[in-house]
Amino acid sequence: MNEATFYNWLVIAWLVLAALSFVALFFVTAPYGRFTRDGWGPRVPSRWGWVLMESPSLLVFVALFGLGRGRSEPVALLLLAMWVVHYAHRSFIYPFRLRSSRPSMTLSVIAMGAAFNIGNAYLNGRYLFALGPALESSRLFDPRFLSGFLLFVAGFALNQHSDRILLGLRRPGETIYRIPRGGAYRYVSCPNYLGEIIEWGGWALACWNLGALAFFVWTAANLAPRAVKTHRWYQEQFPDYPPERKAILPYLM
Ligand SMILES: NC(=O)c1ccc[n+]([C@@H]2O[C@H](COP(=O)([O-])OP(=O)(O)OC[C@H]3O[C@@H](n4cnc5c(N)ncnc54)[C@H](OP(=O)(O)O)[C@@H]3O)[C@@H](O)[C@H]2O)c1
Repeated sequence: MNEATFYNWLVIAWLVLAALSFVALFFVTAPYGRFTRDGWGPRVPSRWGWVLMESPSLLVFVALFGLGRGRSEPVALLLLAMWVVHYAHRSFIYPFRLRSSRPSMTLSVIAMGAAFNIGNAYLNGRYLFALGPALESSRLFDPRFLSGFLLFVAGFALNQHSDRILLGLRRPGETIYRIPRGGAYRYVSCPNYLGEIIEWGGWALACWNLGALAFFVWTAANLAPRAVKTHRWYQEQFPDYPPERKAILPYLM
């Protein structure tokens, strides 16, 4: 089997797995953070869990860029910058802004997350920089690229702003949960997840290939069920939880 055939089968498998995960995640919640529980292997501090889980995505994608063609093309450099900004933040900045260092991530979650990230970075980086069509500068003026880039930036901003509100709810050393307020929390319980989904939707639009689409589908399949569970959890924990707030889609869901 040549690499192009392997790649095509992997994208199909990725999409099928995303659909299966979407259904499964309504029944089984990934055991980290507020949903940590016994039976999923040893626990480690979330901070180090995030570093181990997310940094492979950064390393694999940058390596594929380095091995690929068209490294001085503006479109390739812009896509690289989008990926690096997101994953450098998620791997090495976000974990050290967390207010709780309690061991709330299990090794099984870290292993599954890292495996996903390696496969996903391969699916995205390999197609963009080697297997897919050359990334010519004319794409800079393609409406799909432009609108995808703007969506990515908007999603990133929403994700960052919402995470900042959450991380500001605790004083150093605290592990308690409070009701988040302000920003997009006026409308939904998980605007950080909504921002992440918008971000990778923008990425899929800008890249316009099946690997990027599969990543977007995975992100939504992973985060929408978790948002629904988190929303229910807030409603159960806080009798004064704002009744008008939805889980992830303002006014809808
Ligand atoms: N691309 C993807 O598929 C994917 C998957 C997962 C996550 N992410 C992104 O990674 C980031 C973190 O995700 P997450 O699932 O860990 O988010 P989360 O459950 O909202 O938690 C984020 C942080 O805020 C704390 N926190 C949450 N709610 C709080 C509250 N009500 N009061 C006080 N502290 C609170 C959590 O503490 P505890 O740890 O103690 O609960 C954790 O440190 C998000 O930006 C998300 O979009 C992306």
